[in-house]
Amino acid sequence: MKTLIAALATALVLPAAAQSPKLKVGFMLPYSGTYAALGDAIEKGFRLYMTEQGGRVGGREIEYVKVDDESDPAKATDNVNKLIKRDNVDVLVGTVHSGVAMAMAKVAKDNGTLLIIPNAGAVAVTGPMCAQNIFRSSFSNWQPGYAMGEVAAKRGAKKVVTITWKYAAGDESVGGFKEAFEKNGGQVVKELSLPFPNVEFQPLLTEIAAIKPDAVYTFFAGGGAVKFVKDYAAAGLKKTIPLYGAGFLTDGTLEAQGADADGLLTTLHYGDGLDNPKDKSFRAAYQKAYNAVPDVYAVQGYDAAQMLAIGLNASKGDVSKKAEIAKAIETAKIDSPRGAFTIGASHNPVQDMYLRQVIGKDNKVIAIATKALADPGRGCKM
Ligand code: PHB
Repeated sequence: MKTLIAALATALVLPAAAQSPKLKVGFMLPYSGTYAALGDAIEKGFRLYMTEQGGRVGGREIEYVKVDDESDPAKATDNVNKLIKRDNVDVLVGTVHSGVAMAMAKVAKDNGTLLIIPNAGAVAVTGPMCAQNIFRSSFSNWQPGYAMGEVAAKRGAKKVVTITWKYAAGDESVGGFKEAFEKNGGQVVKELSLPFPNVEFQPLLTEIAAIKPDAVYTFFAGGGAVKFVKDYAAAGLKKTIPLYGAGFLTDGTLEAQGADADGLLTTLHYGDGLDNPKDKSFRAAYQKAYNAVPDVYAVQGYDAAQMLAIGLNASKGDVSKKAEIAKAIETAKIDSPRGAFTIGASHNPVQDMYLRQVIGKDNKVIAIATKALADPGRGCKM
């Protein structure tokens, strides 16, 4: 009798379960160019979490499709439309570059496709472009900049020069820095920039040497950050003018920067030596899966997957239940390797900003620069 019931159950239940369609996740990330390593780490972090869940969320098995967005805003709308219209993805996960992310957010908003941004800090996507179906697992460009503005002022800098790539991420990172720094009595005396992803820093470094500010604040990331830190040291500036950065300057880059990064101070929502059990287990699992040490991008990918799971477990795998998904994510405490965080009203993480110092191959956390920092979400009406 038992075997008969089991046979019937198999016949009735299994085919039904098998029919439940797979959940198609579309990765739109940079797999080439200056941000290639960042895209790779995000995908690895995301897959690690899903593997830990047995490859399913909301009762649905996951299937991945990928597009290399090349960090090129000009190709972004076509790329995201390919994922939505050609590949019929249920969820979009991307991207690194703010300009590309804004194009993704526009399409996601128009189509109602669930979008989780695992890096790009474009202020607009959790500002004027905010929407019920758009979430960010990372940061806003304003956040690390703002935290460093407070640190620089506290450390006694009065006149600072900023240097970055001229696009949303650089502008907004400098904007956050300037807001906090000037509120605390400092002055940004010159804002230098060059087009993304150029790395001809020499003329700008010559200008910095001539101005002789108390400190320099910078946003660079990926391959560009490696070269900037090396060029800053080679120009002899490291010895005389402190270089402060948003933490991307030294995250995932220390191997390539070597001694030229030693001692640098940066602010970010992740770092090395955090004393929390989640980070310890995450690092061990990442090391085992990929034989590599995770960086901030891997954490953001992992947490994007956690947020997707929280939303879809609440909606039982139904991506059309937007209000249920949003409510679940908005009310969750996300158990991140960075430390637990919540998602604010504009769908951006509310999180501690750490002050880190490069010691050997680590971005060692030495203090909390700003506790539970929320992006102001200016212009967001949900
Ligand atoms: C961005 O374009 O928003 C961006 C890119 C790389 C980073 C951080 C922000 O590391």
